[in-house]
Amino acid sequence: MTGNDVRTHCPKQATMRGRNHARPGRALWGAGVALVALLSVAGVARAASALMPYPASARFDVGSLSIPGGVSVVWEGTRTPMLERAVGRFRARLAALGGIPAPAADAPGAATTPLHIHVGADPAYLSVTAREGYRLTVDAHGIDLAADGPAGVLHGLATLLQLAQAGPQSPAIAYVRIDDAPRFAWRGVMIDVARHFMTIETLKRQIDAMEMVKLDVLHLHLSDGQGFRVESRVFPRLATVASHGQFYTQGQIRDLVAYAADRGIRIVPEFDTPGHAFALLLAYPDLASQTPVPGDRHQINVAAINPTLEDSYRFLRRLYGEMGHLFPDRYFHAGGDEVSPTQWTKNAEIAAFMRQHGFATPQQLQAAFTARIQKILQDQGKIMMGWDEITEASIPDNVVIEAWRGSKFIASATRAGHPVVVSAGYYLDLLQPASEHYLVDPLDPHANGLTPDLAEKLRPKLGAMVDALKLDPSATMSPAQDRLVMGGEAPLWAEVVTDEMLDARLWPRSAAIAERFWSPASVRDVPDMYRRLAVVQDELCVTGLQAQANRYRMAARLSPGDAGPVLTLADATSPIRHYGHNHSAAHGQKGPIVQQMNTLGDIAAPDSAGAERFSDLARRYVAGDHSVRPVLEAMLTRWRDNDAAFQAVSAGRPILEDARPASQELKALAQAGLDALAGRKGKDWRAATGALLARQDQAVAASANMVVSHTVAQPPADLLQDITPGVRTLAGLD
Ligand code: ACM
Repeated sequence: MTGNDVRTHCPKQATMRGRNHARPGRALWGAGVALVALLSVAGVARAASALMPYPASARFDVGSLSIPGGVSVVWEGTRTPMLERAVGRFRARLAALGGIPAPAADAPGAATTPLHIHVGADPAYLSVTAREGYRLTVDAHGIDLAADGPAGVLHGLATLLQLAQAGPQSPAIAYVRIDDAPRFAWRGVMIDVARHFMTIETLKRQIDAMEMVKLDVLHLHLSDGQGFRVESRVFPRLATVASHGQFYTQGQIRDLVAYAADRGIRIVPEFDTPGHAFALLLAYPDLASQTPVPGDRHQINVAAINPTLEDSYRFLRRLYGEMGHLFPDRYFHAGGDEVSPTQWTKNAEIAAFMRQHGFATPQQLQAAFTARIQKILQDQGKIMMGWDEITEASIPDNVVIEAWRGSKFIASATRAGHPVVVSAGYYLDLLQPASEHYLVDPLDPHANGLTPDLAEKLRPKLGAMVDALKLDPSATMSPAQDRLVMGGEAPLWAEVVTDEMLDARLWPRSAAIAERFWSPASVRDVPDMYRRLAVVQDELCVTGLQAQANRYRMAARLSPGDAGPVLTLADATSPIRHYGHNHSAAHGQKGPIVQQMNTLGDIAAPDSAGAERFSDLARRYVAGDHSVRPVLEAMLTRWRDNDAAFQAVSAGRPILEDARPASQELKALAQAGLDALAGRKGKDWRAATGALLARQDQAVAASANMVVSHTVAQPPADLLQDITPGVRTLAGLD
């Protein structure tokens, strides 16, 4: 790789080149110097525009302010310990990114640059009506940040950090005036800590990264079939029976909530009922609709609470009361998704209750359950939130609906008067590239769902559920409906995500989605998004995210002493999509499939920054810029020659042996690219290269949606070859 390929240096490139990877910040700094030197004055402008989310308004001016000794804050308004801690984090991150010492305190000295912060109090801080706007001015006199409230200070500091780029001598900030506020108040990610437990330390890293891209809601999915993850003192069996020893103590939750609050992030807890309750029902089987049998893999996903028992409501009132104190946010997510109707209809007492009380369908019974839960939560001062199934029968207007099965639920739920949070189109566990999520607008009721033909193909597998997933061509949004959309969330379900995989599955894609939730709808240029995303990915890495370090760790586990060939293959590939890589889902959730989660498909990321850059350079080359040829040759040679090394390290290691065909395919593609650069493009070559590229297209098509991903043969080791588009460009076959 070349010296100006900044993004690959944290820390895997450094490691692979035998550098000291314990100091990724320095490695990036060195590369940053090279980059700026290469691009000279243009470097500052280029770097300065690597803002994500892009502000509502930014006017850059000629010139930049050098900040050799960092900043010293001059407080012009309310100064609180929380804001001082925010400035402390800013300083530490600036030091890590810019390679400058972090001053210990606000001691204006010769070398420090004044940062004036004007801020007033905001009683609505940490609520959906928090004042988040800010104005940031950088000119020859210094830096001025005027915020509408503490949230605005946090956002202004996040922007300032992205503006502060390594210059030839010291970090510099381009002269700019930014006037910024979010498009949506609710900008979240959802982490499933039930399917795989995530440590507090891991969650804190995600919160730090969220702060840097102005995300403000962490929705924690805290209970599901696999476990109940919070200590309850009222119902201790939830920890002793339902958690398998993996739960957060109440002290840990209080600490996590405070940690997030410091960073302007609300934690919205979800305790899923009446479905997805297997673990809870193992602990309290008297509340079950069907007797739970430990270890029953089918029940894990379908076991439901019995909604006809008064005991169920007494239990949930006490449990939600206890949890509602631990999680002080006004919003409380009670789940409500994927209730299996037969859980109720096959229980004779529940069926009799339904007849007696005139509930014609399980959906109507669920609506009655939802109304009772809403009342319980309202009595406890909470606003109830639930997945979109709960709108299938009439429920109180003020329940917030999370639209997940398709974008049409944005229209139907807002038409019924419900506030909406959109997650349809942002499911990170589908392993789609960032660009696909990025182009989904939260106000578009047609953006995400099944086309009619796809729905019919899925019907044998999903039954009547496909009707809910179908697009609705007649869905419309009025301005009043638009106003009910509070924002969106990117969910990451963790059936196939372990603690060490979390950073790389959540990031950097969540940064692109954060831009969708914050920036004007008109900000949607995909190549520009990827250019900035690569910079943001490095910033997150340098400031503490473990995505790269953990991928290195996983590769090193597979190939002790020589992780390089594994990482090179993983970096040029991505995992198959739409749950093809979730082997239990792909096999109908029936069989006892225990999936290894340390394979190439788990190390490879949905976006390959290296392949993205390769495609970009290939386009430049065919457009006539032959200066990029040595870089292209170096990239292709490295990918081609990796195969011999990969074959060597994989010998006798079954997980790696499975990926040998993928490594050979990468070699073939790289050789085709080198041939194209060398002008070897005869008739036979064109035919062979055409067939090679067609095979990659077929592999991509094999997981292009949930029908094919579960029915069509998948490529070896669940890997897609991400350098395919760049090779096609060089070959002139596009
Ligand atoms: C969901 O994905 N079951 C909300």
